[in-house]
Amino acid sequence: MKKWSLNSWTKLPAKHLPVYQDKEELDLVLSKIKKYPPLVFAGETRSLKKSLAEVAEGKAFLLQGGDCAESFAEFHPDNIRDTFKVLLQMSLVLTASASMPVVKVGRIAGQFSKPRSSAIEKKDGKELPSYLGDNINGMEFTEKARIPDAKRLFRAYSQSASTLNLLRAFSQGGFADLRQVHLWNLGFIKDKTKGKYKEIEDKISDALAFMEACGINSDNNRRLRSVNFYTSHEALLLPFEESMTRIDSTTGEYHDTSAHFVWIGDRTRQPDGAHVEFCRGIKNPIGLKCGPTLKPDELVNLCNILNPENEPGRLTLISRFGADNVDKYLPKLIKAVKKEGLKVVWSCDPMHGNTIKAATGFKTRTFESVLKEVKNFFAVSQAEGSYAGGLHVEMTGQDVTECTGGAQKISENDLANRYRTHCDPRLNADQALELAFLISEEIKKNSKISNKIIQAAS
Ligand code: PEP
Ligand code: CO
Repeated sequence: MKKWSLNSWTKLPAKHLPVYQDKEELDLVLSKIKKYPPLVFAGETRSLKKSLAEVAEGKAFLLQGGDCAESFAEFHPDNIRDTFKVLLQMSLVLTASASMPVVKVGRIAGQFSKPRSSAIEKKDGKELPSYLGDNINGMEFTEKARIPDAKRLFRAYSQSASTLNLLRAFSQGGFADLRQVHLWNLGFIKDKTKGKYKEIEDKISDALAFMEACGINSDNNRRLRSVNFYTSHEALLLPFEESMTRIDSTTGEYHDTSAHFVWIGDRTRQPDGAHVEFCRGIKNPIGLKCGPTLKPDELVNLCNILNPENEPGRLTLISRFGADNVDKYLPKLIKAVKKEGLKVVWSCDPMHGNTIKAATGFKTRTFESVLKEVKNFFAVSQAEGSYAGGLHVEMTGQDVTECTGGAQKISENDLANRYRTHCDPRLNADQALELAFLISEEIKKNSKISNKIIQAAS
């Protein structure tokens, strides 16, 4: 394997990177960011890797979720709080039903850049370069807004830093205390979902009362008082990722300190491309999106490049085929990974293979197709004797109308009511929680497989 260096990716073909007109300005911005404090620390990244190793071993479940694209316009403490709340609620539902620890990772505090299926956007006969994410250009349909502007990186860094600050406060400062579960509720959650959630709350209250009687409470037990919450985004904008990558003084290893976890998108996973090259040299846990064009031997090759030591927790494979395509593509990939004895986490992204255009013109996804992809993912994993270890979703704590269906029965005509995403349609809080309930049944079935894997390993 060729030697890796912090900028060895620059010698390789890179897809989906913006072209900055003012290179000098870009260099100036990046040189400043290189001196900014890291957003996350190597020790935290290592803890996440350890937790993901438990997922790879069938002992825990990964929940990863958040915006498709964070934006400057939607930046608000209430939005951060509500996304965090829903992730906590989903994780509680999954933990309570499957008695499994849930590793919580947000698509947050840095999820700005987007690969686009078309480089050009057309509107009313006018053509402009596509919107690429708020840290690159602006969403407004004007020539000026669409020019990549390096200065946007400062604003994105600052937004990420304050988002992370609030998330750290929420997860460690008392908000995530299990005694507060009733405060995580969001006003607009439908009665059906609310009722089921109330049952879990009551179960937890009973368990806490019992533990309290035994002398264990959140005042003397950190586990009941706080949660570990991690951040993630797509490692797309490599100049920025490079500028945030630092040597960890305790080990001499490179860590990308822009997030705990970064992933390689389905469009940028070429084995000889820049994104794979950059990611192979950083020690963070890495995700790899696996879509319909990925061949089994190519996947094995990518696993070997990205995880040459076959370290469990290092690599998460995120399956995203579309509800009706899981049977066609996933079994072959699972078989190839098993045959080579590769230790990976298999997670399911039921969003990106199910995007459609509604008759009303909005990009949407049906809740039914999202649910169906998850069910098919669990069924295939079960049939192949592989542990279905995670869920990766685009969701928000807001009451948006971006995906159709679910308990609120959002129709294509309703989409216009509160369609706020800057890129792909997200599940709203109600739909996200409903999904957690629906798949908690699937996760229970998982335990047979995880027991087998745990036994085989011991
Ligand atoms: C995404 O996760 O936002 C994304 C673009 O996904 P994919 O690379 O799987 O299409
Ligand atoms: Co998306």
